Amino acid sequence: MWPKTDLTDLFGNEHPIIQAPMAGSTTVELVAAVSNAGGIGSMGYSKTSTEQIRDDVEKIRKLTDKPFNLNFFAHDTPVNKPDVIESTRERLKPFYSEVGLKEIPQNVSKPLLTFTEERLELLLEIKPLLVSFHFGLPGFDAIKSLKKAGSRILCSATTTAEAIALEQSGVDIVVAQGWEAGGHRGSFDVNHEDHGVGTLALVPQIVDAVKIPVVAAGGIADGRGIAAAFMLGACGVQMGTAFLSCPEVNVSDAHLEAIRISRDDDTRLTKAFSGRPARARQNNYIESMAAHRLPLPDFPTMYTLSDPLREASNDTLDYRFLLYGQAAALNREMPAAELVQTLVTEAQNLL
Ligand SMILES: Cc1cc2nc3c(=O)[nH]c(=O)nc-3n(C[C@H](O)[C@H](O)[C@H](O)COP(=O)(O)O)c2cc1C
Repeated sequence: MWPKTDLTDLFGNEHPIIQAPMAGSTTVELVAAVSNAGGIGSMGYSKTSTEQIRDDVEKIRKLTDKPFNLNFFAHDTPVNKPDVIESTRERLKPFYSEVGLKEIPQNVSKPLLTFTEERLELLLEIKPLLVSFHFGLPGFDAIKSLKKAGSRILCSATTTAEAIALEQSGVDIVVAQGWEAGGHRGSFDVNHEDHGVGTLALVPQIVDAVKIPVVAAGGIADGRGIAAAFMLGACGVQMGTAFLSCPEVNVSDAHLEAIRISRDDDTRLTKAFSGRPARARQNNYIESMAAHRLPLPDFPTMYTLSDPLREASNDTLDYRFLLYGQAAALNREMPAAELVQTLVTEAQNLL
C-alpha cells in the first residue's frame, strides 16, 4: 500500500510511478509495458507529426486498456536574430570540418515541435486521460478545452513560483523537476537565470506551496529514491533515465553504453545542442561551446544548426547529445514491466 494515493486515485492505476516522456526515445511498446505493469507510461511528442501521434495512440490502445500520458513541449516560436545565427555558424565551422562536413544548414526551421492548434484538435478528438507539458503551458483556452474533454493536465515546474503559476492556470498535477534530472529543464523562461534547485529541496517546498498533487522527478533511480519522494510529500514519481536501459526504449548503442559506464559527475547542463538547458553527457563540443560564453540562437533553432554534427558523430561521443540524469549509474538493464515491479517491491519494503 502506498502512503499517499492522490495519483493512483485520480487515474485508477496501481502504482504511483510515471515513466517520463522522452521524445525520440519512448515507444508504444514501452508505454504499454509500463501501464500494463500498473505504472503510467508516457510518450514524448516534440518530434512527431500529428498523424503519427494518432497512429501511436491507436496502437497503444490495442496493447493496453490502462491509463497513459501524452507529452508536448510548449515553447514559444523562436525569435531569430541574424547576427547571433551568423556568429554561431562561424563558431560551428571548426566542429563541422572535424567531422568531415562542409555545409552548415541555412535553414533555421523548427525541428522540435511546439504544441499547436492541430495537436489540440487531435487531443480533443482522441481524449487521452493524461496530457503533460514541458517548458510551461500552451494558452489558457487550450487547457480549458482539454480539461472539458476529460483530460487531466500535468506540467513540469523547476521552481516553487512556476508550480504556483501552474496551479493558478488549472493544472491538475505538478511534476517537480529537480536539477539532477536528465533531458531538458522544464523552466518556463529560458532567459531567467536558473539557480538549479535540486529535487530534495524543491519537492517539499512545492508541496507546501500548492494544494494540487505533486510528483517528484530528477535523480530518482530506485526504491530508495521513490520512498524518499514520498517522505518529502510527493504522491508519486516521474522517472526518465531509469527507463532508458529497458529493451523497449529507442536509444542508440552509444547512448546505452554511455549509461553503462556513467558516473554521478559525467553530465552537465548545456544549451549548446538545442538552445535550451538540457542535462547530457559531457563531451568536447559541450565544453568548448561553454568556454565561448557567446549568445546562442533560440531553442529550437540551435537544434537545427547542431543537427548535422550529431548525425555525423558516429562512434565518437564528442558531438553526441546523450541525455541522461545524475543517477544513471544506478540503472538496471531489464524489461520495463520487470523494472516497475522491482521499483515497487524496493519502495514498499522501505516505506
Ligand atoms: C532522454 C530524455 C529525454 C527527455 N525528454 C523529455 C520530453 O520529451 N518531455 C518531457 O516533459 N520531459 C523530458 N525529459 C525529462 C523527464 O520528464 C524527467 O524530468 C527526467 O527524466 C527526470 O529525471 P531522471 O532522468 O533523473 O529520472 C527527458 C529526459 C530524458 C532523460
